[in-house]
Amino acid sequence: MNMKREKEWESKIEELLSKMSTEEKIGQICQLYLTEKSAPQVAELAEKGLVGSVVLTGTAFAGNSTGTDIDRDAMTTVQNAALRSPSGIPILFGKDVIHGYRTIFPIPLAQAATFDAELVKEAASRMAAEASRSGIQWTYAPMLDLARDARWGRIIESFGEDPYLASVMARASVEGIQGDDMSADDKIVACAKHFVGYGAAEGGRDYNKSEITDYTLRNMYLPAFRTAVDAGIQTFMNNFGDIGGEPCVFSKYLFRDILRDEWGFDGFVVSDWGSIANQTGKGTAETKREAAMRAFRAGIDMEMVSRCYYENMQELLDSGDITTEMLDDAVRNILRVKLRAGLFEKPCLNLGELDIYREDDMAFSKKIAEKCMVLLKNDGNVLPLPRDKKIFVTGTYAYERRSILGNWCPGATDEKVNPFVDCMKEVFGKEQIMSTDVYEIGYQYARQADYAVVAVGENWRETGEGNSMARIELSERELELVKTVRRVARKVVVVVFAGRPLALSELLPHADAILYAWHPGTRGTDAAASILAGDASPEGRLPVSMLRSTGQIPTYYNHPLAQYHYREYRDELPTPLYPFGYGLSYTEFSYGEPTLDVESLSLSELMAGKTVKVKVALKNTGDRDGVETVQVYVRDRFAYKSRPDIELKGYQKVSVEKGGETVVEITLGKNAFGYYPEKDFVIETGDFDILVGPHSEELKSVAFNVKKG
Ligand code: GLC
Repeated sequence: MNMKREKEWESKIEELLSKMSTEEKIGQICQLYLTEKSAPQVAELAEKGLVGSVVLTGTAFAGNSTGTDIDRDAMTTVQNAALRSPSGIPILFGKDVIHGYRTIFPIPLAQAATFDAELVKEAASRMAAEASRSGIQWTYAPMLDLARDARWGRIIESFGEDPYLASVMARASVEGIQGDDMSADDKIVACAKHFVGYGAAEGGRDYNKSEITDYTLRNMYLPAFRTAVDAGIQTFMNNFGDIGGEPCVFSKYLFRDILRDEWGFDGFVVSDWGSIANQTGKGTAETKREAAMRAFRAGIDMEMVSRCYYENMQELLDSGDITTEMLDDAVRNILRVKLRAGLFEKPCLNLGELDIYREDDMAFSKKIAEKCMVLLKNDGNVLPLPRDKKIFVTGTYAYERRSILGNWCPGATDEKVNPFVDCMKEVFGKEQIMSTDVYEIGYQYARQADYAVVAVGENWRETGEGNSMARIELSERELELVKTVRRVARKVVVVVFAGRPLALSELLPHADAILYAWHPGTRGTDAAASILAGDASPEGRLPVSMLRSTGQIPTYYNHPLAQYHYREYRDELPTPLYPFGYGLSYTEFSYGEPTLDVESLSLSELMAGKTVKVKVALKNTGDRDGVETVQVYVRDRFAYKSRPDIELKGYQKVSVEKGGETVVEITLGKNAFGYYPEKDFVIETGDFDILVGPHSEELKSVAFNVKKG
């Protein structure tokens, strides 16, 4: 942080505040939506200094829109109007740029499956640069909600079920979007959302209530958000829902006690779309005035789209229910972010070339898609497929384009997506590929071909906001297609283009190989074909447990030890179908026994920063080069409170050539051994296990002790 500039900005803020009318201050805490249609009215208000920000969409469900691009003329008109206002404060232009703006990268859940922070950071950086070239200055990403329920459509936007992995990806996203200097032409403002606990919506039903104890909040749901603050994120957005009966948007505990007082956050908080006004409909505020008062007191600095602040703030000030100091503080937070984002230096929009696609972004879209895909099954090493054999390609998603992009890419179109069947022809050669969507012909092709590849999945509109599903099994129609092909084909490979982690038990016996391709973005189908041909090797690992059936929800790896087997169902196996951290390669790896450089450390040594190094020999015993994600988990054998049996506390991706061997070393510090029994971080002395392996259900353990003193 450039302290000299920060000081200059703080005095600029005070200078602006001293001249602003109350009306203009109220304007700064209001955000309107901007479309071509609303532009004249927005410009009129902007000219009076009554618009602090605009969100570039006309719908409350931006994720479910497609191709809704922004109107550059409207943006320019509105910004110029704002610059003519009495204080000339530029407007901040926000939009949902979640996993790409026009060039789309894999959905965030799939990006987490790369277990590669540098790759996720690069995706965020490219996304920010592309958005910025269209005048977008602020994105409502990253979404940092911990997600354990695949019925919830927004699990696709999360980084999965583990707070450590989500924290790693939170930092990568913030650094990629904001960079070291947000005023740079290719950087924009990021937003941590939805604070907090949105992913715990009961029953996986979007917007539903959640019950999260403070213990679970602090150990599971807060860490990724805390990391985002430590990484310098400049804005936060509230969860629509409530925790234990308190609407998050009214929670002083969340937005002042934790976010400001405990974590020292100094950016600003924006409400989610209409979530302040919504409280009157939810019965938690009798009037919009009451909703405005409670949200503002809680620390919601800016109101997205609904007009509770605009319509009631003057009266709230006159009555003393809101003080001028509180209003000034909110405006300070907003002006601070605008100054850091360079809006005053470059108020006019950075409207670059219209055709903003760039070849290197497209190439990267394929690279990250290749690295997010998870090979779940590969019986008899049926994959990679030989190039001199006949391959029959079929399935709903063999021809699909829009769903390959996934949900939450408003502004994008599928114009650059190549249907999977075309990618297969490109990679294997037209003469090798047979394809049809005509049933009878397909039956013959399946019989004649050496291999059948069936592309199944989930429609993009069955995921994302407002798109929770009561069943997470593969659809009957898709399953039936695979069974039909299975009856006549020699070998069946299934590629799953889906957003949420579907339950695949019923599919399993009908597929020799399963590649989970997610909704992998613009070049995702090209990536899937490359993996099937062995031009790229699968290296994705599951960021979320993949269950056998809907009935198992919630099942996640970082769960306390089962006291009795009664925890399990009588009619379902207790384990997920595929566990957290799981994924196959095109080669095999063997692990030696893990060793430690020290067998114990004292509590004071740990707290003073001393570390323990975990070493493990890793051998590539297969016949192909490969990449392994060596994972390190920690078990606190005895603790004051019930803790997860194991927790991911480190990992390392390593490339090992066929027949080669390496020694992987991972360092663990105090954060690996402590937790929040109450509000403060605590390490309890005693015995721990440090466990190393390829995933959460295949680990080798070594003892470690934290001594008193
Ligand atoms: C939506 C979403 C939020 C999004 C915002 C703006 O309702 O909940 O994630 O950023 O509104 O589109």
